[in-house]
Amino acid sequence: MTTQGARRAHSAHVTGWGRYAPSQVLTNTDLERMVDTSDEWIRSRTGIRERRVAAAHETTASMGAVAGLRAIHTAGLQPDDIDLIVLATLTPDYWMPSTAALVKEAIGNTRASAFDVMAACSGFVYAFATAQAYIASGLSKHALVIGSELLTRFLDYTDRSTCILFGDGAGAVALSASDAPGGALGIEMTTEPQGAYMIWIPAGGSKAPPSSTTIARGEHFLRMEGRETYRFATKTMANTALESIRRSGLSADDVGLFIPHQANIRIVEAVAKGLNLSMDRIYVNLDRYGNTSAASVPIALAEAVNEGRLQIGDNVTLVAFGAGFTSGAVTIEWTADPTRGLSADEAVRPEDVHVRLPVDWDSVDPIPEALAEIMSRPGPVDVPLDDVVPGEPEPARQPVGR
Ligand code: ACO
Repeated sequence: MTTQGARRAHSAHVTGWGRYAPSQVLTNTDLERMVDTSDEWIRSRTGIRERRVAAAHETTASMGAVAGLRAIHTAGLQPDDIDLIVLATLTPDYWMPSTAALVKEAIGNTRASAFDVMAACSGFVYAFATAQAYIASGLSKHALVIGSELLTRFLDYTDRSTCILFGDGAGAVALSASDAPGGALGIEMTTEPQGAYMIWIPAGGSKAPPSSTTIARGEHFLRMEGRETYRFATKTMANTALESIRRSGLSADDVGLFIPHQANIRIVEAVAKGLNLSMDRIYVNLDRYGNTSAASVPIALAEAVNEGRLQIGDNVTLVAFGAGFTSGAVTIEWTADPTRGLSADEAVRPEDVHVRLPVDWDSVDPIPEALAEIMSRPGPVDVPLDDVVPGEPEPARQPVGR
């Protein structure tokens, strides 16, 4: 990307959206065979029925590239129109290079600057805020913001308190500069490091580099203090959302749809209560995907739009929380034709998207032993949109496009 100095501030409009979920499903019944748990316990404590597991050939970059290309297709852009790629993840393909760099090559882009953002489950909102700032300052015209996670390779399948919660997937939006009214309005982000060790992966970084000892101790797996995290989430999410709405010059009544981080239905219900909202104004799909960390909000956004839950002129608030502790919210006045995303899955097939591998290096089999049997059974097809009923877009206002 070429820096062109400060220009007039533009608004960032969501012009494209897309998502990808791997085809293999891990059900609560599957987990019953691995750890001492039950479908009833998982459903009643979390609301999760099943989650997706990436296949051996898939990575955070490959899933992010598919979701990203789908967002670019929805926006009616070409990959090389994108001048900025910001990818949020806590499960990168490698410590270096960035996963965003791999995605840039995989989508056939030659001109974007690309980097990763690490803010755990709040990562997508943080990445969105970064791209919005680039657009507002004139440094970017068309940005691709991706949340992609492959959490099933970082879970301890002997720890029933964590392995039941998480799944894999990716979501993305294309953000474009425009002087038209609407687009991204107010943003709020918080970081409260007293929760730093409430959700963490102890080893693999410079404090505890990988060794046979760290492996033997299981220190490369995600660890979590569930109750403390729950307490933080329920205390923080409603306030973060309200601050973003206030900065947008709106009140909660002006917001038609809330898209919260899909961690736990009880957390979502507590947020609804905190905002004094009925659940029909809150989008939920965690029953099908579990917690996909930075991917959860953009997957939910793409599905909500494709299902006709957002129309031009509606206000929507995205709100997340995660390790750090972090939280973030952005309120958007929706300006794109919601039917545009319906052809994206058909237009961008995962088998056509390739992340280049290094020469003379074979990685180990990445599938955790506990999941090997599940991964060998035939999976369903790529998440269909057949069950999606698009709403009628209101023709009164012009969509923002290229
Ligand atoms: N199946 C059966 N029993 C279980 C399971 C399980 N899968 N997991 C825990 N239990 C047991 C516990 O051992 C405990 O038993 P005990 O009373 O005999 O000791 C009992 O259930 C209650 O455990 P709690 O941890 O108190 O259960 P809680 O109701 O808090 O639910 C949960 C646990 C679902 C993890 C909840 O705390 C939660 O959702 N926390 C927030 C997690 C979250 O959102 N994380 C997102 C992190 S975002 C990021 O950045 C990665």
